Amino acid sequence: MASRLLKTGLGGWSIDELVAYLKTGAAKGKSTTLGDMAEVVHNSLSFMTDADLRAMATYLKSIPADSSLAGRGAVQKVPTQAATLYVDHCAGCHQAKGRGLPGVFPPLAGNGVVVAPDAANIIKVVLGGVPAKGGYIPMPSLASQLSDAQIAEISNYVRTNWGNAAPANVTPQAVAELRRTTPAN
Ligand code: HEC
Repeated sequence: MASRLLKTGLGGWSIDELVAYLKTGAAKGKSTTLGDMAEVVHNSLSFMTDADLRAMATYLKSIPADSSLAGRGAVQKVPTQAATLYVDHCAGCHQAKGRGLPGVFPPLAGNGVVVAPDAANIIKVVLGGVPAKGGYIPMPSLASQLSDAQIAEISNYVRTNWGNAAPANVTPQAVAELRRTTPAN
């Protein structure tokens, strides 16, 4: 995903190349998308307008290489498994600190869906995705990429980070139950 893109450094990319990459999954003379990123392009980014993609490319270029992957400064925390899952499966869109991208990806920090006492909605969003609404592009279903235990871990992670203070009460059993009844959007 975008985080993997960042790791290899975007310094050598022009905004136009980035836009082409995000839009089509390929840029001349640069890497082509594989795996997760191809899915993201296929499911989501190819529906974005050129203006959205340009805003996103400009934003991505403004981030120093690797900044999304680990805390910087004196204390280097080893990321937990939940943090790593979040980086690999969510941060490419919702960003490292859950702040989202204005007009493109909603923030998860301070988000009512995320911190609701009943966690059913966040589980359903991850399982089923979200159709485009409120000016946002659609979110792809991640049901086929993540196990029940992984979805529980990620949900509890976003419920308890960046100032979110909801109970970490999502269990793999709850995810398994909702998986049976949540259609992919
Ligand atoms: C390909 C980009 C992408 C990825 C990856 C992604 N999301 Fe989303 N997410 C979105 C978009 C876009 C929306 C808004 C959809 C809409 O409302 O139209 C959204 C909406 C949400 C919402 C609902 C927010 C609200 O205010 O309604 C939650 C919760 C959420 N995502 C959590 C996650 C979690 C957790 C992950 C990782 C497991 C994740 N997302 C991965 C793009 C993404």
